Amino acid sequence: MENIHSIKINSLDIPTNVFFSPINPGYCVNGILSKEFKDFFIERSGLDIGICYIGNVSLLTNWSSNINTAVFSQNKSVCWSALASEIKKNGSYAGIQLAWKPEAIKMQKEFVTGDVLGQLVYFRQFYDSFDQFDQVSTLFSESISQAFQDGFQVIQLHAAHGYGLSLLLSREVSRCENPRETKGARLIRQIVDKLLKREGILDIRISLYEGINDGSDEWAYKTRLFEFFQECGFNLISLSNGFYNIDKNMIYPVKQDRTAILKEAETLAGTYQDMFWNVAGNMEFVLQSRKAFPPNLTFSLGRQLLSDPKTILKIRQHRESEINKCSGCNKCHYYSYGLLGIQKCELEII
Ligand SMILES: Cc1cc2nc3c(=O)[nH]c(=O)nc-3n(C[C@H](O)[C@H](O)[C@H](O)COP(=O)(O)O)c2cc1C
Repeated sequence: MENIHSIKINSLDIPTNVFFSPINPGYCVNGILSKEFKDFFIERSGLDIGICYIGNVSLLTNWSSNINTAVFSQNKSVCWSALASEIKKNGSYAGIQLAWKPEAIKMQKEFVTGDVLGQLVYFRQFYDSFDQFDQVSTLFSESISQAFQDGFQVIQLHAAHGYGLSLLLSREVSRCENPRETKGARLIRQIVDKLLKREGILDIRISLYEGINDGSDEWAYKTRLFEFFQECGFNLISLSNGFYNIDKNMIYPVKQDRTAILKEAETLAGTYQDMFWNVAGNMEFVLQSRKAFPPNLTFSLGRQLLSDPKTILKIRQHRESEINKCSGCNKCHYYSYGLLGIQKCELEII
């Protein structure tokens, strides 16, 4: 049984249903793309990767997580177009994840916070004081249109991991039982209403479980939120987990923990068949199992494609023994270790 296959989303024929997960590799200097940055994504395009996403591209310099993060507005259109075109030339669709880290929120270096309640108070202060709907929505919608014009065929809004959109959409942070009444829903509505150009795939990434509480209330709430996204015209909903300032292990599950939200992703794809879904977090194990999944479910690989960009190709060609497996060495977590960009992987210790 082959679970890697081509897929058609919003009339785009994507070579496979396995994508390079949005990754921010660092390497930029004051938001400007470096050669190392561009080569990183070019090296992870083609090779049976359906969509190659450039991760965490901040819309403005002061919305950036750190100075080594790419800033959309700091780079000329020709520069983005050239990168998108290289990715396409190699055979993947070019995706970009647009992000907003509010100035008021500082991203922690620690993997796990010792003070969940303190973080919640901090997030709620941001939520309660947020009133810049026009500024933020205009910037998002103009950048989405620009990115489509620059040649990206897939635009993902970063609404996961404790970034601005995710905080404004969160049940725990907003204290709203109805996701449509959150400030985040109001902002998303304004963003899509202002869109002038929409010719590819509009995608939104969200953390299914945030880690602020035990998660028991999140499923029903998030299901209603996904129905709202569908009404807003998103073509793809990408599921991740965790908040950066709470527990990073939920974002990047340790390899032994395997696939934290696969069951939920399968259920959503089976229930909402008009929507396309994506799931990340140790998915290389699932693909190698060759188990069949709903046809509208897609997968993302992050760390495994850092370790071996040819992983998908090798799985498809039944050359699993040749895969350089991610050893979970954590050298890719440059920010937490105070480094400027992703470091080379350590080989798997067998
Ligand atoms: C070094 C590194 C950088 C990442 N950067 C981003 C990012 O910019 N945006 C994002 O949504 N997720 C980011 N992630 C999370 C990945 O997209 C992915 O969801 C996560 O690593 C789990 O998938 P995996 O088990 O295949 O690695 C990053 C992960 C790593 C390891």
